[in-house]
Amino acid sequence: MVKRIGILTSGGDSPGMNAAIRATVRTAVTDGMKVTGIKQGYAGLLDKDFIELEYNSVGGVMERGGTMLRSSRCEEFMTTDGRKKAGNILKEKEIEALVVIGGEGSLTGANLLMQETGVIVIGIPGTIDNDIAETDMCVGVDTCLNTCIDNIQRLKDTASSHERAFIVEVMGRNSGYVAAASGLATGAEAVIVPEIPVNYDKLSERIWSERKRGKINCIIVVAEGAASAYTVARHFEHKIGYETRITILGHIQRGGSPTAFDRVLASRMGYEAVKAIEDNEGGVMIALRAGKTARVKLAKVLAEKKKFDKKLIEILEVLS
Ligand code: F6P
Repeated sequence: MVKRIGILTSGGDSPGMNAAIRATVRTAVTDGMKVTGIKQGYAGLLDKDFIELEYNSVGGVMERGGTMLRSSRCEEFMTTDGRKKAGNILKEKEIEALVVIGGEGSLTGANLLMQETGVIVIGIPGTIDNDIAETDMCVGVDTCLNTCIDNIQRLKDTASSHERAFIVEVMGRNSGYVAAASGLATGAEAVIVPEIPVNYDKLSERIWSERKRGKINCIIVVAEGAASAYTVARHFEHKIGYETRITILGHIQRGGSPTAFDRVLASRMGYEAVKAIEDNEGGVMIALRAGKTARVKLAKVLAEKKKFDKKLIEILEVLS
């Protein structure tokens, strides 16, 4: 049986990472394992920035945003030498299994670490982008969406008062999920996502005709990976019949106390990560599929690109 596990958070943080750390630590300790907390992601692993985590070390963290272990993006770990060094450090510290909470880049690093050094790794998908294949949701997405809709709703208030259009830029380097879901949830007129090419002329015609039919505001949500809000505004200048303003929501989308959904999801995933280690099933990511947690091979997850659900946009266009 594995006696000691390590845990780290890596890449862009997401709300609920603390709940995942808490669940992993408490499940492992309850089942008789020791836990090493690794600070600052893979950079901390290479710097041996470790802390011993006990049952009580994770008290009062579930409701906190960010990650108590801190996070980073580490270039050295992207090299074979960096990962070899990491593998040796884990062996030296008698850490037999590693739980990695993070997005696609972090899980790719974890998978390579296992292939190259034999260390058992388990992934927990933690990213606001919801761009990881084989899981319906990632830890942090729901909180991010709630932050987006709270802010877009406020913009809608002032947009109506002044009969304006707002172009709202949300996060999502390669993924339009946050834009599409927050647009749908706020009754936005349109969303622009990296997965679907946009026809600005057609879109301006639609918004212009809705304006003529009496609409008094217009919200267009754009994912940062599709275009910048400034570019979108330039395309629409004088074409949609509204005075236009721009808002970039930025990193507020990554902060804040996690929602109930994220706390529950993270707790389930942290618990299942330890159970996978106990079952000797390394190299898997804990996923949420049709409401249930599942173990999916990391290699399979990383070989796929998450499919964008175009239905979200179809529905938005009917309802807006
Ligand atoms: O991957 C998560 C994410 O929040 C992306 O949506 C965004 O493009 C990126 O991280 C921002 O990264 P950073 O915090 O390094 O600016």
